[in-house]
Amino acid sequence: MKMKYDVAVLGAGPGGYVAAIRLAQLGKKTVLIEKDKIGGTCLNRGCIPTKALLHSAEVYHSALQAAEFGVEVHNVNYDYSKITRRKDKVVKTLRNGIEYLLKNTGVDVILGEGILISKNEILINSEYVIEVSDIVLATGSRPADVPILGINSEGVLNSKDILQMTEIPESIIIIGGGVIGIEFATLFSTLGKKVTIIEMLPQILTGVDKQIANKMEKLLSRRDIEIHTSAKVSKIEKKDKLYCTYQKDEQEFAAYGEVCIIAVGRKPNTENIGLEKVGIKITKNYIDVNDNMQTSVNNIYAIGDITGKAQLAHVASAQGIAAAHNIAGQQKKMDYNIIPACIYTNPEIAYVGLDEDTAKKQGYDVKMGRFLVSANGKSMIMGEKDGVVKIVSDKKTGEILGAQMMSPRATDMIAEICAVMKSEGTVEELEDTIHPHPTISEMIMEAAHDVSGLSIHQA
Ligand code: NAI
Repeated sequence: MKMKYDVAVLGAGPGGYVAAIRLAQLGKKTVLIEKDKIGGTCLNRGCIPTKALLHSAEVYHSALQAAEFGVEVHNVNYDYSKITRRKDKVVKTLRNGIEYLLKNTGVDVILGEGILISKNEILINSEYVIEVSDIVLATGSRPADVPILGINSEGVLNSKDILQMTEIPESIIIIGGGVIGIEFATLFSTLGKKVTIIEMLPQILTGVDKQIANKMEKLLSRRDIEIHTSAKVSKIEKKDKLYCTYQKDEQEFAAYGEVCIIAVGRKPNTENIGLEKVGIKITKNYIDVNDNMQTSVNNIYAIGDITGKAQLAHVASAQGIAAAHNIAGQQKKMDYNIIPACIYTNPEIAYVGLDEDTAKKQGYDVKMGRFLVSANGKSMIMGEKDGVVKIVSDKKTGEILGAQMMSPRATDMIAEICAVMKSEGTVEELEDTIHPHPTISEMIMEAAHDVSGLSIHQA
């Protein structure tokens, strides 16, 4: 049996399902192939479930702080199994929504494992073949392992395993102080558990503006999270608990916890999908693509984590949309200069474009503007005082080169900067944009005023 379609999309994460819907909207007869669940890592094992858990933790934290706001809440407690049930409900509702959208746009979904057998054919479950004109590969990534002795000990978990727990242990070691490590540290420490982070590099959250990363490290330490940087784990041993041996400053230390989470990055799912059979070029396990998202085989496109550009759901979706338009004959190029990054800590962190150091290294004459959370009225109303909004601009042209935020609602606010950067707006235009009062977003306007030293609410 051979089924025929215009396009097949392999993988139904935020790259693949978005590409499939857009292809169908553009009139292509599209089939979406998924071996697990619609929604991929982001919806089922990543962004959505972790943020649902973090939101419950935040509600618990707010209840604990209620007295500060004149609200009396007694016997504040949580039931982690109920928190996870709510998370599962959020995930299921969103998944049902996507399944409906796929059906409604006319995308056929095949739940099965696909493998390329030629540049126009995909074999499903070793049983039947689909013949297509174009293919979009969107097979995503999975947690990476590290060669540490004892990595397979009972209680050593990755981000996927940890989301399946219905009880939380009292003490948790996290290996890796990147985005995943720090978000889980925030979750478990907010829920009152002992957290230890072991990070190989000299700072946590590498890639984040140094001042903000340092401030976050201090805030986490103040919440009794133990952080060991420049520390390399050599072995994990299961005794009464898990013992992690690490080296720091040429000395050996041990940290212990009931579980140990490995959060040291993700690796692309580029094996066993037939890339070699078709001759698709890869570099260090990532698929080579051009700005149209085409691989070295011109009717086969690749999007998302397998392209190694930025392992973010919103980038995968943008790449999926670009690929769909190119397949439909409407040219759309990817531009990676304006990509927002969000970290769901407390306070949140978000950034886009260049930070001060990088802009200077790239030869810009940089002019910075800053505004502190402690000077913002809405933040005070909310009982928040930690953080800053920074704007990096080009002194010569006033162009906004980037922004870094650690503030309440930073992950929502960063989109404003992205929109201004995308339309090549200047600091002056941002200054002259009337922002609503009282809001957190006023910090952006104030930081823009501060570029010329004229912030109103900051001495
Ligand atoms: P990551 O690359 O952000 O951080 C991994 C950290 O582990 C690094 O700091 C690295 O130095 C450290 N590390 C590596 N080997 C180590 C070792 N042997 N001992 C101690 N530390 C070690 O990777 P992460 O946090 O696993 O996240 C994976 C991807 O998922 C990232 O690309 C991230 O952007 C994405 N993600 C995005 C989120 C968001 O947008 N909010 C949330 C979660 C993940």
